[in-house]
Amino acid sequence: MLLHLSDLHFGTEKSECVHAIQQFCWEQQPEMVVVSGDLTQRARLRQFFACRQFLDSLKTPYLVVPGNHDIPLYHVWDRFLTPFMSYQAFFSAPERELESEHFYVIGVNSVRRRYHTRGHISLTQIQQIQQKLSEAPANKLKIIVTHQPFYTPPGDPHGVKDCPVLGKMALELWSQQQLFALLHGHLHQAVVYDLNQIYQLQATHPVLDIQAGTATSWRLHNNIPNGFNVIHPNHQIEHYIYQEQQQRFVWERNWNLG
Ligand SMILES: [Fe+2]
Repeated sequence: MLLHLSDLHFGTEKSECVHAIQQFCWEQQPEMVVVSGDLTQRARLRQFFACRQFLDSLKTPYLVVPGNHDIPLYHVWDRFLTPFMSYQAFFSAPERELESEHFYVIGVNSVRRRYHTRGHISLTQIQQIQQKLSEAPANKLKIIVTHQPFYTPPGDPHGVKDCPVLGKMALELWSQQQLFALLHGHLHQAVVYDLNQIYQLQATHPVLDIQAGTATSWRLHNNIPNGFNVIHPNHQIEHYIYQEQQQRFVWERNWNLG
């Protein structure tokens, strides 16, 4: 199984959620942990350090990508000249791949100095990721992770403004490479969509947009509880939420789109 966390926002983290995730991980021993951005609240070194310590404590291979909160907001020179310097000090390159027995995951950096909230995918990224997908092992679930989602429904207060520029163009190519799913955070909500149906991508299978809420932060949107997703090799997707009384994450629902 793959544990999908997002929007940890160290600096505003709830220690009880941090401990509960450690417990879950030690008990369930996922193949890998994927974090879809916003590791920190304000991209401060001590927040990256705390996040790195937490992820190392899980004793599980992990892959992270930056979120819009992981580049400086107030230090304008840092933001424009070296936006990922602090991130890279603790997590090396913002784009990596991670492979396990059942999963092949590609991290894609969608955060830009100018498009830091909405996100942006470049033409170079589109081509490089397509190449990586075409060369990925055919017997593993191919997954891409970016911070911003690739779909928000009409009427959503965020609208398309928080879907990356060129995201749909990327999808049209990536979806032809047996892509199983894209993992995201950003909106602090938990939902799954079939992008193949929504965008008529003409893939021969569902292409899932799997969004996770904040796993550890007290900055909840619309009182959606802290939670995370678990993805199984048989395509089953589970959602867990934090239960205050039991002080642990408990199963809440399955999504059955895959
Ligand atoms: Fe966030």
